[in-house]
Amino acid sequence: MNTAKPTINYGLEGIYVDESSISKVDGQNGKLWYRGYSIENLAEQSNFEEVSYLLLYGKLPTKNEYDDFTGKLKDRRDIPKEVRDVIKVMAPTSHPMDVMRTAASMLVMYDKDPNNRNLDATIDKVITLIAKLPTIAAATGRFREKKEYIPPDKSLGHSVNFLYMINGKRPNEFESKLIDLMFILHAEHSTNASTFSVLVTASTLADVYAATTSGIGTLKGPLHGGADEAALKMINAIGSPDNTEKYIEEALEGKQRIMGFGHRVYKTYDPRAKLVRSYLEESLEKEPSDEIKRHLQIALRAEKLMIDKLGKSKGIWPNIDFFAGPLYRVLGIESEMFTPIFVASRMAGWGSHIVEYWNNNKIVRPVEWYIGSLDLPYVPINKR
Ligand code: ACO
Repeated sequence: MNTAKPTINYGLEGIYVDESSISKVDGQNGKLWYRGYSIENLAEQSNFEEVSYLLLYGKLPTKNEYDDFTGKLKDRRDIPKEVRDVIKVMAPTSHPMDVMRTAASMLVMYDKDPNNRNLDATIDKVITLIAKLPTIAAATGRFREKKEYIPPDKSLGHSVNFLYMINGKRPNEFESKLIDLMFILHAEHSTNASTFSVLVTASTLADVYAATTSGIGTLKGPLHGGADEAALKMINAIGSPDNTEKYIEEALEGKQRIMGFGHRVYKTYDPRAKLVRSYLEESLEKEPSDEIKRHLQIALRAEKLMIDKLGKSKGIWPNIDFFAGPLYRVLGIESEMFTPIFVASRMAGWGSHIVEYWNNNKIVRPVEWYIGSLDLPYVPINKR
């Protein structure tokens, strides 16, 4: 028996688990590319539908391909009444991420051939999920507030339709740009915890819905996708801009994590956070409410303090989740709905990784170094 303890990479830190051509995160220089295109270019010039196509198929679509793809997304947006009914029962008392997980899981019931893993069938299931997850999120938001379900509107683009379904009014041009930006920025980010979780499930040859459900469960945690909600809660707990430094200093002294800061890969400013921050500043030019102004003032003071204290010394910089909450508030979205939006957009990335992984599938099965006892004598229960 081998008794030499191996090196253990806790949290799989620094471990390569596969090759991928979907996205590249350069954590030292703060850069991100989807299929070779910089996130800045895509955020400025593309839209979520095109980005989803790019991630899934590995190339930008022609006009015909784009029309066909967006047509499928529009046709599949609505969700079955039984799914709506379950959302309605759960939404008033459960966290929206729990509702999302349950409702997404239900979609397998409507797939006549859920275990078909050939390439076209897999892509088709992913398109269905990309189409329906925003509707599940919007229905969850509506039913939480005891409002009526708003069916999807085919005349609207993908993310804009989501905002319409949740808010009940058609967004203006600036709001449309903001929501699409957030969908693009959240669409993909290499092998993070939720994507890895999706791949672990997919690697057993479970279906696309099962893999997606695993991803939603993993994204919920505050160390991952749930940080957007937690960061805004912290900004609200800080309360006033003048309380920012005291609050953060005390939290750090108490060894608390400052939500929306730090990243396993980025050891500099997250490029997505830079983009969100710049659009948030632009929103200040559009007669924002006192709440929005206060959020941004607190966020900017917290950012400065954290960079001074931990940025250069420990590589802890703002990540996308820090400015996401204040930006969603500009769009009138409640904090519990932030991570469900993350799910709706990340489906494009999760799905692309399933397609890529199944091309060369191997079941995920790491090993643990056993430190317990061996060969203990079994004592019957009445003699213990
Ligand atoms: N606030 C204060 N200190 C921090 C923070 C933070 N947000 N993040 C890391 N640190 C400190 C740790 O306390 C640790 O300090 P030590 O070396 O003195 O013990 C050191 O930095 C390294 O931290 P680890 O937890 O080992 O780093 P890891 O790479 O495992 O964790 C993580 C990354 C989970 C993102 C972490 O930075 C964190 O908890 N951040 C807050 C939650 C958050 O914003 N998550 C969203 C990430 S982006 C995304 O998932 C979409």
